[in-house]
Amino acid sequence: MAGMIPRSFIDDLLVRVDIIDLIDSYVPLKKSGSSHVACCPFHTEKTPSFAVTRSKQLYHCFGCGVGGNAISFLIDYNHLNFVEAVEELADFMGLDVPKETNTHHTTQKQDNSGDILQTLTLANQFYIAQLREHSIAQTAIDYLKKRGINGKIAQQYQIGFAPDSWDNISQQFTAKQVVDAGLASEKQNKSAYDRFRGRIMFPIRDRRGRVIAFGGRVLDDSQPKYLNSPETSVFHKGREVYGLYEVLKCNPKPKQIVIVEGYLDVIALAQFGINYGVATLGTAISQAHLELLFRFSPHIIFCFDGDKAGREASWRGVLSALPSLKDGRQIKIMQLDSGVDPDDFIRQQGCEQFEQAITDAQSLSEFFFERLSLGLDLEHMEGRASLVNKAEGYLKTLPDGIFKNLMVERLQNLTNIQGLTISPQTSDKHVAVKRKQKLADSNLSPVRRAISLLLQNPKLVADINEKNINWSQLKLAGADLLQRLVEIINQHPDINLPRLIEYFRGEQEERYINIMMNHDFPLSGAALTADFIGAIERLQQQGKENCLNELIAKEKASGLDASEQQQLLTMLGDR
Ligand code: UTP
Ligand code: MN
Repeated sequence: MAGMIPRSFIDDLLVRVDIIDLIDSYVPLKKSGSSHVACCPFHTEKTPSFAVTRSKQLYHCFGCGVGGNAISFLIDYNHLNFVEAVEELADFMGLDVPKETNTHHTTQKQDNSGDILQTLTLANQFYIAQLREHSIAQTAIDYLKKRGINGKIAQQYQIGFAPDSWDNISQQFTAKQVVDAGLASEKQNKSAYDRFRGRIMFPIRDRRGRVIAFGGRVLDDSQPKYLNSPETSVFHKGREVYGLYEVLKCNPKPKQIVIVEGYLDVIALAQFGINYGVATLGTAISQAHLELLFRFSPHIIFCFDGDKAGREASWRGVLSALPSLKDGRQIKIMQLDSGVDPDDFIRQQGCEQFEQAITDAQSLSEFFFERLSLGLDLEHMEGRASLVNKAEGYLKTLPDGIFKNLMVERLQNLTNIQGLTISPQTSDKHVAVKRKQKLADSNLSPVRRAISLLLQNPKLVADINEKNINWSQLKLAGADLLQRLVEIINQHPDINLPRLIEYFRGEQEERYINIMMNHDFPLSGAALTADFIGAIERLQQQGKENCLNELIAKEKASGLDASEQQQLLTMLGDR
């Protein structure tokens, strides 16, 4: 069972990370005034409302309202749970996550990833052993031999075998364990049966080498040819690639990475000396895949099957790649002959020819314009205008930079239409306007105002401490949250907003905190303090009045006891 992550570590991560670097590695940001902006990755928009502020270490979308710190971003963007997001952030910073054992539960949600990983590791060992030991493993061994896979590479990629049985795996675990791990399906009577039967097994490992899923291939022509693990809490197809762990093990900073379609393509390439091949897992290439790969190498080659589906996959990949193409990153598209896949190619032509083909591969810009010009007659004005029309929308998604300029230039040369301006992805004006609107409606109640100001300026706690507030008497919605904030800040005098919001993650107040932290107050210094003190005084006053009204109402309805009467008199006297 995985231990808890110490809060001090989370705190430390948030102190050290620069949210601009982190978010920029997923969503290219553009500087605009004191923030960095982009089109919001969480909703569709044409002009950017998504702003990241270095001084605050927070992001916020003025369009859809999402926002938070570096951890929140990873949770939302990568669909991670809290623990995974912390691990991802630690990974980004090159740190290992320490685990505490035997600590009492704090506010984290139940997380069974540790159990699942354990089950998958054991299952992997089992499948590998079956390939060696099982009496009918000979068919699998023969198949692998027929495919030309040698023992060394089979070992390196931990290839295994799931014999044809309904409960090989299921009988070794509880039904919940195998179902959670994606290794089995549940029957109506709540027992489980094995998902992978009579298949060659390819473990899918994450960057740290932990088995997170499997792909399994049949030994004959039956269908489905491949079966993959379903999405589980440790496996998300949209952001994992097969073979990355093995690539990085050979070289943590490969000069290039080739993306192919199949498990066996990756394995054949590695066996023949191309130790920088990865595959998507039966899904299209996503921007998340590309951002992941670009973290390890600036040069990516698409090498899909030489059929219509392969060309379509390249095209879709190119379109997903455009927003990630910051200067310095490069994508090439390798087109194989019809009917040939990378596995066939490397076996027929060898490593050197493959590397030569990479060198000769089309650049993304060539591929892009060739594809868009298909069927257009560039000799005539109509065809050229149509190309401009088609290209414009795509080019807009490129981040500003030299590459974008070159693409626009190329479009001008191809069409002979000069002076094209592809409006930048980011329009600063828009953000400013939205920010003003936000200000106008921040007509907050005193409690909300106090919470919002205190969240954003924890040092103000000193002013509230001076007031010696009698919290139990403050009958105001939100006062308990304010009190809790005060307590946390008093315990951690140096805390800042991104760290403060971690105390509320997963709790009922989280949403409220997210709203409160985004109110903009155009105040600083003494004016800020005065505004805060004003809010505190008003809320004290309001609390007192609520209390008074309650007493009066009670007196009318059922009468007051002696102490309540005393309280009422004192309060009336105070007024
Ligand atoms: P291919 O059919 O191109 O794979 O599918 P391949 O590696 O060339 O297959 P063989 O073994 O040489 O015949 C490419 C990828 O698409 C996914 C798998 O991830 C596979 O590696 N796929 C394919 C499935 O998920 N299910 C299928 O039925 C087929
Ligand atoms: Mn193949």
